[in-house]
Amino acid sequence: ILEILLKGLHRLEYRGYDSAGRCIRGLSVSQSVCLLIKQRGKVQALDEEINKQQGIDMDVEFDVHLGIAHTRWATHGAPSPVNSHPHRSDKNNEFIVIHNGIITNYKDLRKFLESKDYEFESETDTETIAKLVKYMYDNRENDELSFTTLVERVTQQLEGAFVLVFKSVHYPGEAVGTRRGGPLLIGVKCDHKLSTDHIPILYRSSKHRILTPVPRLPSPPCRHGSAVIEHTNRVIFLEDDDVAAVNEGRLSIHRIKRTAGDHPARAIQTLQMELQQIMKGNYRAFMQKEIFEQPESVFNTMRGRVNFDDNTVMLGGLKDHIKEIQRCRRLILIACGTSYHAGVATRQILEELTELPVMVELSSDFLDRNTPVFRDDVCFFISQSGETADSLMALRYCKERGALTVGITNTVGSSISRETDCGVHINAGPEIGVASTKAYTSQFVALIMFALLMCDDRISMQPRRREIIQGLRVLPDLIKEVLSLDDEIQNLAEELFLQKSVLIMGRGYHYATCLEGALKIKEITYMHSEGILAGELKHGPLALVDKQMPVIMIIMRDHTYVKCQNALQQVVARQGRPIVICDRDDQETINNSSRTIKVPHCVDCLQGVLSVIPLQLLSFHLAVLRGYDVSSCPHANGVQRPNANGVQRANANGVRVHNESRHV
Ligand code: UD1
Ligand code: F6R
Repeated sequence: ILEILLKGLHRLEYRGYDSAGRCIRGLSVSQSVCLLIKQRGKVQALDEEINKQQGIDMDVEFDVHLGIAHTRWATHGAPSPVNSHPHRSDKNNEFIVIHNGIITNYKDLRKFLESKDYEFESETDTETIAKLVKYMYDNRENDELSFTTLVERVTQQLEGAFVLVFKSVHYPGEAVGTRRGGPLLIGVKCDHKLSTDHIPILYRSSKHRILTPVPRLPSPPCRHGSAVIEHTNRVIFLEDDDVAAVNEGRLSIHRIKRTAGDHPARAIQTLQMELQQIMKGNYRAFMQKEIFEQPESVFNTMRGRVNFDDNTVMLGGLKDHIKEIQRCRRLILIACGTSYHAGVATRQILEELTELPVMVELSSDFLDRNTPVFRDDVCFFISQSGETADSLMALRYCKERGALTVGITNTVGSSISRETDCGVHINAGPEIGVASTKAYTSQFVALIMFALLMCDDRISMQPRRREIIQGLRVLPDLIKEVLSLDDEIQNLAEELFLQKSVLIMGRGYHYATCLEGALKIKEITYMHSEGILAGELKHGPLALVDKQMPVIMIIMRDHTYVKCQNALQQVVARQGRPIVICDRDDQETINNSSRTIKVPHCVDCLQGVLSVIPLQLLSFHLAVLRGYDVSSCPHANGVQRPNANGVQRANANGVRVHNESRHV
């Protein structure tokens, strides 16, 4: 069982995590033990921790083997053994639980349980579940209470999204799992042929047979069968609020009541997928998966930080430093590649809301110039991996000169995260694809949140702040709308993929989109592409425009609108036939252009999050059409491929590898 659990965790490593733990329980007629082993860092560290344990007799034989295991990506509480899962109800490990997702009412539950003298040991939302299940058990009406009913009672008190698996010394040989808003898959492995390929649902109360249909959220597909597939390809996908129990090897599925429209059984399905495919879900490549994850990743960047009801922003990582930052002489944003573009994209709104001079610097050039830095400067280091060498060196350079250093990183525990004085984790989740996509939009949003925080006590700025915060509220939905243009963009890619070059033009808030779109195209399609500031057209680049040259222009209805229209006229006058990314309500541009990609309208300073997505999609489709390998997965242990320039990017855990092959 140890081997199966450990291997299962290894299989999940590609998803990124920062701590791992598991609870194993062996049971024999005379012995009942519940052992919890947790460790921060790699699964390997957990393995070593297990080997260090005293008193585990590896030769004892058990009648029933039952274990649960988990890898965690820190959201509530830093990565540490105590914050790792499984969480326990008490020192005797009476109840043990693992959890994916988030419990939004955990603070209220914790307060209640603390008032009942439950002592908490971690900072996590999950621990409240472990305590709550014990509370409910200790207050049971009689000893007939089944484990599944107990779990149902607990989940009725929980708000948020969760996938849970419980075990308990009070219910030996049994594990209970349930889900709401997250995926849970059961692998079925059996020595004999099963007599049915359906598991009937057992309803607790048969009184409620006919009820009006309740609208149910579609179940998110479970894409994480990778720990299961090597044991069996027969699986059951649970629905929201199903409670599944495995007792002495027998599976049963329970629901509280039957609702009209419910299917009274769950089918055992056969997975045809290969392991690598499961890791990528239904996507061809990690890059594509990550582009489509952006509604969630952007939401996760804001989760618990932006309060849309009272228009406030709280960044836990900056709160102790914000006064000092407000007093600084200037802000310097330092980064490489896509992360640098996130700085370019947000520079204007930072200048507007902070009223400070803002410099945006490429790390390598910043170092080459020996740029003067002073004690009253605040230097930001933007990095997905938190390990990029030039950015790290620039960080050390600024620290030596006494500046306050702030990290905007995706990787908890990375060098930049550790070495900066303070910062913001963007919480976009691991980015495995070599081309950065979701990290860019999350860095963008993180920098906007910082700008909002900097001016929260400025009365004159309140209307603008409210407008932006309400814009952030709808951003994930607007991203979904842009992603629905995928087919249209694929058609465009089919027209463009044999071309040698693509020019991308825009200005103001969208100059960064041009640079970022061109970088994506260069990096993964091997086509030449250039991002051009539309204001510079007449100073040279216009010479490149003719009938043949593919041109993409970004024109949005902000303060640069008239100037962008002028640029459009100049391009058309040279017989260019630009493809225009524009506001879907902008009839004038739609009428004046032969081809448009229409995106929804958003607050001017957030519009760049929407305008970049068509270019991310375009570069992906161009790469596929040009025959680059987009089906392959990262290195077996979850490390990323180097990018086109041979530059190695670090994986979610900051590991660097060298590998010559290129993957998208
Ligand atoms: C932190 C916890 C989160 C918990 C939340 C609520 C971590 C990683 N995050 O999130 O799990 O739910 O409190 O209490 O433990 N930092 C840097 N440089 C960087 C990024 C971050 O120094 O590049 C520092 C921050 O200043 C802060 C710490 O790391 O001290 C955590 O940052 P962040 O995760 O952004 O803070 P919270 O959102 O408060
Ligand atoms: C482009 C890309 C790179 C990275 C750059 C910085 O798709 O991924 O340009 O943005 O190498 O990496 P981080 O953000 O990890 O510092």
